[in-house]
Amino acid sequence: MSDAATLTLCKKSDVPEDEGFKVEKDDFSLAVFHVEGEFFVLDDLCTHGPGSLSQGFLEGHIIECDFHAGCFDIRSGEVTAPPCMIPMRTFKVIDDPENVVIELPQE
Ligand code: FES
Repeated sequence: MSDAATLTLCKKSDVPEDEGFKVEKDDFSLAVFHVEGEFFVLDDLCTHGPGSLSQGFLEGHIIECDFHAGCFDIRSGEVTAPPCMIPMRTFKVIDDPENVVIELPQE
């Protein structure tokens, strides 16, 4: 059993499929995605500037930032298209039947 701290973000049913959903909770501003029954969570603020990934355009597992059209893979946070250079922080999603729950990063 893991003793990592977790945070419940929302109900799975709150997150529309193939679109971003923004959750602000505690000190986190997060973009939640639902693709093919799986959930993915990243920071919402683009590493390149003021873009909000939850407002971006999702194609498969690639999110295009709405600000300068840089792209990231929502599974890994890796940059897939410039002008972004810095990967996004992603969060581990904990298996839960009803809610989107993440494991909080250890400080
Ligand atoms: S702010 Fe996201 S690509 Fe520039």
